[in-house]
Amino acid sequence: MRIDILTCVPNLLDSFFAHSILKRAQQANHVEVVVHDIRDYSTNKHRTIDDYAFGGGAGMVLQIEPIARCIRALQGEREYDEIIYLTPDGEQMQQRMVNQLSLKGNLMMLCGHYKGVDQRVRDLFVTKEISIGDYVLSGGELAAAVLSDAIIRLIPGVLNDETSALTDSFQDNLLAPPVYSRPADFEGHQVPEILMSGHEAKIEEWRYEQSLKRTKERRPDLLQ
Ligand code: 6GU
Repeated sequence: MRIDILTCVPNLLDSFFAHSILKRAQQANHVEVVVHDIRDYSTNKHRTIDDYAFGGGAGMVLQIEPIARCIRALQGEREYDEIIYLTPDGEQMQQRMVNQLSLKGNLMMLCGHYKGVDQRVRDLFVTKEISIGDYVLSGGELAAAVLSDAIIRLIPGVLNDETSALTDSFQDNLLAPPVYSRPADFEGHQVPEILMSGHEAKIEEWRYEQSLKRTKERRPDLLQ
């Protein structure tokens, strides 16, 4: 898979992808993440990429020209399955959507800033608009990082057996069960007996019951 991210603050994303699972996924060639600075596609000498909104009002708008040049340059190199615009008015991100995106080959993600991008970018280029939740961030970069992380960890081979995505919360519309590690006794607080019984079927059953209990208590909406 290849993910191209278009932003006016590339530094914000560079360090995120340079660490941990995302770094290893790239080193093992499971995914290539390329961050592009929209400013590099500005044609004026001050490298500006935003301007006042027609009709007035507070806030600058990201202009279509540099973004169009960047998108077209990338489209000249490969076909994109989706061109995603990260925006609070997009469709809310869900695990189901992430699962689908993890099966794609080439994804482009456009991060908005200020008052957003010129509507024509959305009309002419964007194929999917995604929000990561009902709150407002100062830019789409963190949302692109969240979405990329959720996608990349699902690519076969990125996680090992122990960290398998199959047991994640949400994969079966259930929250994950509690987990414990050594010591078995912390200041009198014991790990549930069943987990140390070695009885695999019973442990599975216990974990399923715990998942169900947690989901009923915390997210009954998932069970509807
Ligand atoms: Cl994708 N962008 C911004 N700026 N704020 C958000 C968001 C995206 N999703 C939730 N809030």
